[in-house]
Formats: sequence, structure tokens, C-alpha cells
Amino acid sequence: MTDHVLTVVGARPQFVKAAPVSRAIARIENLRETLTHTGQHYDRAMSGTFFEELGIPIPKHNLGVGSGTHAYQTGSILMALEKILEEERPDVVLVYGDTNSTLAAALTAAKLHVPVCHVEAGLRSHNRRMPEETNRVVTDHLSSLLLCPSDLAAENLKREGVRQNVHITGDVMYDCLLQSPEAPDIQATLKCLGLDRETEGFYLATLHRPENTEFPDRLTSIFEALNELEMPIVIPLHPRTRNALEANDITLGSNLHPLDPVPYRTMQALMRQATTVFTDSGGVQREAFYLQTPCVTLRDETEWPETVAIGWNVVTGADKKGILKASRKFRQAPSAWNCPYGDGTAAEEVARKIQEYLR
Ligand code: UD1
Repeated sequence: MTDHVLTVVGARPQFVKAAPVSRAIARIENLRETLTHTGQHYDRAMSGTFFEELGIPIPKHNLGVGSGTHAYQTGSILMALEKILEEERPDVVLVYGDTNSTLAAALTAAKLHVPVCHVEAGLRSHNRRMPEETNRVVTDHLSSLLLCPSDLAAENLKREGVRQNVHITGDVMYDCLLQSPEAPDIQATLKCLGLDRETEGFYLATLHRPENTEFPDRLTSIFEALNELEMPIVIPLHPRTRNALEANDITLGSNLHPLDPVPYRTMQALMRQATTVFTDSGGVQREAFYLQTPCVTLRDETEWPETVAIGWNVVTGADKKGILKASRKFRQAPSAWNCPYGDGTAAEEVARKIQEYLR
């Protein structure tokens, strides 16, 4: 008998996580996968290019939800996905990470008594003001199979009384990175910005979290720091950030080189070559770590504390002095590196655990 996995993705980082897992599921004989896109991210730059570049199959269903408030996004997904689950009758619903798409899919499935498998279970920032923290806590408590990227994530679940069907698989984002060849056009991208890697270094920055974009003081402080950094900074701008900069009349210093959101492999290549990465993204923090590029995290906490303990990440929040100090610290990259998030075979493990669970 073939078991049916219905995967729900919706936002940029989920496409990256789903890519290696879909490949691993396809290799298992008695498993089949139906992909559903909620449409939370819908631009070509935020969605389409990822499917093409990572070779993800075209989703069978697209809910076309788009942007809106948290309630709008979550509610719209609930209503649209209920019909699809009734039609498809999957054996398990597979969700990734901590977005509104994750929460809505987990809730729809749980209400229909379809087991939920959560990849990236157990991560905690312990900051309930983050929408992602609510999403991940609720999703974990609704899930029947919890697949954690690290020992610490599994410990977090234990502390909350979640002990059954919890497994440590490693981080599927590491798999995706190892399975993707480097982008060929990085020099061209840099040249277009007037940068030449041969003669000067550069920094890479990304920013999109509401805790920064929706608070003008924080946004101003971060950009004051970036404007003062001594090297050129390549900064692919998330649409939310571009809007926030305009709304708050924040101008970018001449050392900042804005770009539209860049495709996956271009981003990996930029990260690999950057002297240091500045970010508030969870995905970028660990991708920088995997590529052994130091990272300054523009948040007050991190779900990836191992990267800090090993010496490749400093959490500065929006504090200007702290950001500048961290950039000076990383003029010299750390020497020791070991990976607490698996060995790049997490996707195989995820597929195996799903198969075992359904047996
Ligand atoms: C979402 C996730 C966040 C994840 C991020 C990755 C939630 C609560 N947040 O945040 O955890 O790290 O995705 O990028 O689910 N927009 C476009 N084009 C698009 C998509 C969005 O222009 O294709 C713009 C819209 O103006 C929208 C804004 O970006 O209002 C924010 O998009 P949204 O999906 O609400 O949240 P993200 O900030 O992307």
C-alpha cells in the first residue's frame, strides 16, 4: 500500500526546506507526496524562482492566499485547505518551520484528525511577541510526529511535556545547501553593483522581521550602524523592508547596495563570499554558519544558540554600538567549527521517520 503525504508550503524558507525532503520522499517506494502552496509568498522573486532553481515539483494545489493580516492569512488557509484535505484524504500532513502557513495547515489537519508531521520542531526564541513563536509552539502541540534539527530543540519539547514521536533528524536546510551547486553569476552580480571581490571585501545584510521593520527606532538604529560600516554592504531587500524604509524616510548610505530578493543559489554564493553576514532571519543565520561565514544577528534572541556557543554568531539586537562592535570582532573569523545540526542527511531521515510512523 502506498501512503500519502500532503505537504503544505507557503513562504520562501519552506521551499528551501521542502526541496531535499521531496526528493527523499520520491525515493521511497511506498510513499507519495502531494504538494500544496498556500500562496503566502507569490512574487516570482519570493516564490517562482525557488521552485525552478531547486527543482521542486509544481504544486498540485495553490490556495492563492497572498498578503494580509495574520488572521486573514491563517483563516483563509484554514478554509481553503479543509476542502483539499477532505478531497485528498492524506495519511499525514507535512509542515515546515513557523510561518502562518505552518500554523494554519497544522490546525486544519488536526481538526480533521489527520496526523501532522512538523519538520523543525522544538525551536524556541522564548519571545511570545514574535508571531513565529506562537506559530511554532501551537504547531508542535498539534503535531503527532516531531522532527527536530538539534538536541536542544528536542529538549525544549521535553520541557513542554511533548515526548512522544520526537526524533532528532538534523537540519534539512543544511541538506539543501550541500545538494545545490554554487550559482555561476556571482561575479556578475557583484560587478553590477560596482563591487569587485578581488580587490575589496563586502558584507551581506538581510532584514525582514516585524520586530525590526515595524519599530522605527530599531530600524533607524540598525541602518545607522550599517551606514557606518567600513565595507560595502550588499542588501537584498524583502518587500516588507523596502516598504518600511520608505514609510520611515530612512535613506541608505552610499556603502549600501540594495537588490531585489535574490534567488537561492545567488544568496548562498553571496553568503559564502561575504566577510560577515548581518541578518534577522533564522535561515540565513544557519546558512552563514554552514558556509563558515560569521554572522551578526539583528535580533534580541536566537533559536540557533549553538551557532553563538561555537563562536560564529553574535546576537546584537538593534543596538548600534553592539552591531559595530560585533563587526570588528569578526574581522578575524573564528577557527573552530563543528556542526550540531546533522551531517546533511536530515531529509533522508525525515522521509524514513514518516515511513516508520505510517507503517
Ligand atoms: C513570512 C513569515 C516569516 C518568514 C518569512 C520569510 C509569518 C508570520 N512570517 O514573513 O516567519 O521568515 O515569511 O520571508 O508567516 N510580499 C510581497 N511579495 C511576496 C510576499 C510578500 O510583496 O511574494 C510583501 C507583502 O507586502 C506582505 C509582506 O511582504 O505584506 C510580508 O509578507 P508575509 O508573508 O506576510 O510575511 P513575511 O514578512 O514574508
